[in-house]
Amino acid sequence: MTLDFTAGLRTALVDAGFTVDGVAGMLGEEAHRALGRNETTPGLRRTTDGSPLATLTRLFLLQAPVDRDAADAALPGLVDQLCNAGLLEQSVSEVAARLDCRPYTADDRDLWVVSDLTPGLDGSPNKVGADHVLGISSASTSLAQLTIREEVGRALDLGTGCGVQALHLAAHADEVVATDVNTRALWVARVNAALNEVDVDVREGSFWEPVAGEKFDLIATNPPFVISPATGERLVYRDSGLPGDRVVEDIVRAAPRHLNDGGWCQVLANWTIERGRGWDERLATWLSDDTDAFVVQREVLDPASYVELWLKDEGVHGRPDYASRYDTWLSWFEQQGIESVGFGWINVRAGGSGRHTLLEWPYDVEQPIGPAIAEWGAALDVTVDESRRFLRRPDVQQETFGAPGAEDPSTVVLRQQRGLRRARSADTVEAALVGACDGDLSVGQILDALSVLLETDRAELSATYLPVVTELVREGFLLD
Ligand SMILES: C[S@@+](CC[C@H](N)C(=O)[O-])C[C@H]1O[C@@H](n2cnc3c(N)ncnc32)[C@H](O)[C@@H]1O
Repeated sequence: MTLDFTAGLRTALVDAGFTVDGVAGMLGEEAHRALGRNETTPGLRRTTDGSPLATLTRLFLLQAPVDRDAADAALPGLVDQLCNAGLLEQSVSEVAARLDCRPYTADDRDLWVVSDLTPGLDGSPNKVGADHVLGISSASTSLAQLTIREEVGRALDLGTGCGVQALHLAAHADEVVATDVNTRALWVARVNAALNEVDVDVREGSFWEPVAGEKFDLIATNPPFVISPATGERLVYRDSGLPGDRVVEDIVRAAPRHLNDGGWCQVLANWTIERGRGWDERLATWLSDDTDAFVVQREVLDPASYVELWLKDEGVHGRPDYASRYDTWLSWFEQQGIESVGFGWINVRAGGSGRHTLLEWPYDVEQPIGPAIAEWGAALDVTVDESRRFLRRPDVQQETFGAPGAEDPSTVVLRQQRGLRRARSADTVEAALVGACDGDLSVGQILDALSVLLETDRAELSATYLPVVTELVREGFLLD
């Protein structure tokens, strides 16, 4: 289908000031927050001035029909074309949206993202079609924030959906390939690339098929990772059709074959946690020795919470089959020996040497978190020995805990204020060592001084604290 309408649509959206800031300014905080909760009434009350900005907001974000005259004023000469393309539909004198088109911002660029309409506004049923094309979800945002934004040659958005990751990648990759199996998604991704004037090579096919034999410097993927017994209708945006968490395992295992040396594959994922087996033990078996990997478990849901989440997402909550679907899903978890479901980030770097960190870190982190992942990779390559001079990371703070009035703290915690905001308990020697790392003194000189000060055997100090310095470098407390 032709994409001729995208240039005109872009001009109309720009002319109307239909940007993230423009819409937020017009709606005001209360209506904006209400829309975030899928409530449109406050927004409808704020968009009555007949301006193109108000019309576009009512049409696309609030899903309210507008007069044909108002639509013509906001989208000059475009309404019939957009109806033919399937973005709008027209009744006698009114025009309504059939697809969502919303402003978005990335790296200070104003972008627009077309997708299927947001389901469930004002308490309406959440029901979506099997080939629903997701718009910007919290998962899309998480992956966008996780992705390392360094200049690269080739980037791949695997399972592109509306193409939002591809739009981000296009800002720092010479070439972007985006794949999907959903033909509606492929069309929407092409629309979004054209609308935002970026080149994306959109290809149809399952997982790696469309890129067989090709390599990339960066792969960003938010795959259809929902873990279910596959008894309901398969919703392609979330269900892979593969059992358990196989889709994620397959992607992680195959990724190194599609990465250039030093290239990253970053996956947002769910994984099953089996009864009696640590989450990290199982995930570690997916990682190969010729990669480095940083896996972070951000959240763990028990089966009931998980099932509720995804049945509600599907619009089944309150339907007559809700209880039976719930029960079937729980029984299936039980049969599979699944105790809970983990959610998190899998970051694999090709050309590594099997240095794998699997970290449970459910705490608040600084967003975007992508730079912290890149820093983790860079720190792996730093050599640590007594001749090296390190710099205490400027945002590391020391917290001390102890009984009121006590002379010495019983616990010292070193805490990063930025990035992953990692924290580690330290003894007084470690804390002093970190404090002394000013980039001038070598580790050996600091250990010499501490040995005199603490009247401790120098060799013993070295044997104990050189491995600690390595950990401090790998965890980002000390900088090269
Ligand atoms: C959770 S959505 C992610 C969409 C988008 N990348 C984002 O970040 O919001 C998963 C996407 O994977 C696609 N998908 C499902 N099965 C696939 C397969 N076998 N091969 C490639 N893509 C697939 C779906 O159509 C959907 O667009």
